[in-house]
Amino acid sequence: MSSKESLRRKIEDLRKELNEHNYRYYVLAQPSISDREFDRLLKELETLEAENPEFVSPDSPTARVSGEPTKLFPPATHAIPMLSLANTYSKDEVLEFERRIKDLLGHAPKDGYTCELKFDGVAMSLTYENGKLVRGATRGDGVTGDDVTPNVRTIRMIPLLLRNAKKYADLKFEVRGEVFMSLEGFRKMNAEREELGDPPFANPRNSTAGTLKTLDPREVAKRPLSFTAYQLQFIGKEESGLATQTSRLEFLKELGFPVSQYTRHVQTIDEVMAFAMEWQEKRESLPFEIDGAVIKVNSLAEQSELGQVAKSPRWAIAYKFEARQAKTILGGITLQVGRMGTITPVAELEPVALTGITIRRATLHNSDEIERKDIRIGDTVIIERGGDVIPKVAGVDHSKRPKDSKPFHYPKKCPACGSPLVHPEGEVNWYCENPECPPQVVARITHFASRGAMDIAGLGEQSVEQFVAAGMLRTIDDIYSLSSKQDELLSLERMGEKKLENLFAGIEKSKLQPPEKLLFGLGIRHVGTNIAKLLIRAFGSIDAVSEATMEAIDEVEAIGPEIARSVYEYFRNPKIRPILEKLRKAGLSFTGEKIKRETIESAFFKGKTFVLTGTLSSMTRDEAKEKIETRGGKATGSVSKKTDYVLAGVEAGSKLEKAQELGVRVLTEEEFLKEL
Ligand code: IVH
Repeated sequence: MSSKESLRRKIEDLRKELNEHNYRYYVLAQPSISDREFDRLLKELETLEAENPEFVSPDSPTARVSGEPTKLFPPATHAIPMLSLANTYSKDEVLEFERRIKDLLGHAPKDGYTCELKFDGVAMSLTYENGKLVRGATRGDGVTGDDVTPNVRTIRMIPLLLRNAKKYADLKFEVRGEVFMSLEGFRKMNAEREELGDPPFANPRNSTAGTLKTLDPREVAKRPLSFTAYQLQFIGKEESGLATQTSRLEFLKELGFPVSQYTRHVQTIDEVMAFAMEWQEKRESLPFEIDGAVIKVNSLAEQSELGQVAKSPRWAIAYKFEARQAKTILGGITLQVGRMGTITPVAELEPVALTGITIRRATLHNSDEIERKDIRIGDTVIIERGGDVIPKVAGVDHSKRPKDSKPFHYPKKCPACGSPLVHPEGEVNWYCENPECPPQVVARITHFASRGAMDIAGLGEQSVEQFVAAGMLRTIDDIYSLSSKQDELLSLERMGEKKLENLFAGIEKSKLQPPEKLLFGLGIRHVGTNIAKLLIRAFGSIDAVSEATMEAIDEVEAIGPEIARSVYEYFRNPKIRPILEKLRKAGLSFTGEKIKRETIESAFFKGKTFVLTGTLSSMTRDEAKEKIETRGGKATGSVSKKTDYVLAGVEAGSKLEKAQELGVRVLTEEEFLKEL
């Protein structure tokens, strides 16, 4: 055997070995080696692959993080629409579900029901072909979701290559399941975020959804995402002998998918209810969040006989658990000032235990909520954790109200700086409009230094608070003159040479951050990381963004009028210029790469206005819009006399009628494709 051949074998063996360990760990929950040993093997494989690039393969366990950050997620149409489940909340509704099934089938389900936990995460569709993962897509509207394959590939318990891949190479199928975060993973991640000055996520589900929408797979790989498979659907040829949900779950395990160990196969609806009640009681003991139980008719033949209504099957329901509540006394109400000056009332509570944690504070949302729920200090209030980590005051037990209680008078002045609070018409929030209000200053600078922005290690909320209080930081540009205040800084409490050195190193390093991070760091209302990226790509630099007209900003894809106005107004604020100039002098990077839209000359499209309606078979509406725009046309929302063409797909509605009424030319998809 040539040495190359033996190397190839070695690499293949290592991959197999690693995949098998993954399977033992995630599917069987019976690891046979330590995490360290696993990492060592992985490292060995990485080294071999790096030295022998001809053997690199996308199915290798080393190829989890691949590809560069993307701009947007391409649309993904589901081979079989992704349905959702009808919700039930009582035993009566479950009995009603059973009665309907018996009516339709003429008998009770022959193979009983499967009772599963309802994982509280994000539904995911995974497509496998030739034994390999080829696509991961979110549910979207059930017909079309987002193609998030690069992100999904980073989830370690999702097999890139099936076990027995060769044996099942001729099968094409979709595995559906839930991407979620374990409570432990979620809490650890949030603790790290807070340390870095990043805003914590509200709950595991939100952070899962947010993570899947992250554009950089390297970031996704750092987040603790988990997966559980709960459905298998073949596309085309079916594997025989898999006529029940339970057998399919077993088969999924064999292929290497993690499947819930809590699923129970039962015969009667009483047993179904027992399962639901049991988990309603025991949900806190689980290492992840669930929001109910899912009941499915086990036989697939019966499932297809039962069919579906609108967007949910008749053969399955969700039994949703009640929200988790506790009662306690409201000792006081304090006001918190946010980065944008938003005032949030916070309930100060007599400590109470709820779902494993002690709750001392809860959000009251806004002044309207306090009034609407008639919440008074001294009241016995109902605290709820609806899966959220931040508990809220859901209501008041009026029977326990002290006789002498008085309605809460919402302060008219900022608790931090004393400025009068304002309540813009049509908004629920009150604002402190003083830009020098200390908690706002602290929040602004903390945001600027946070990981998603300038990423200055050593400049978390606590340090910023300290520096602001000492008068050393007032605006974000002050960060870059801190190095001239060494003595003053050293005289502060909890500050030493080493710490200062790290801080200065972090500040220096931040100067290398790309302009989209800086733009995000400025803290412009509505400008998150994605919008900041889009703006830099469209305009090329922060200066160009600052000079752009509102219309020009509005025209950037995915940016609407509200964001455009906010960006435009931000740069018209006279106080902003000098700050930006100081940041420029400090050496921060304002210019990035403008990504030019491809343009195509077309006499047919140039200068014409199009309205799209109905569903196209060859592309999504967004793709069609993009194609029109690259050819110099415009796509607008509503039909008027100025519209040149209405492009009508299947099930075109009122816009088509309007076009006919106004005598606007209607294009079929075929005609449109010809012009393209
Ligand atoms: S089955 C047609 N099983 O709940 C059946 N769904 O509204 C489709 N979910 O979108 C879903 N755990 O995100 C099923 N064991 C489970 C589930 C589950 C959580 C989610 C899923 C779905 C939603 C239903």
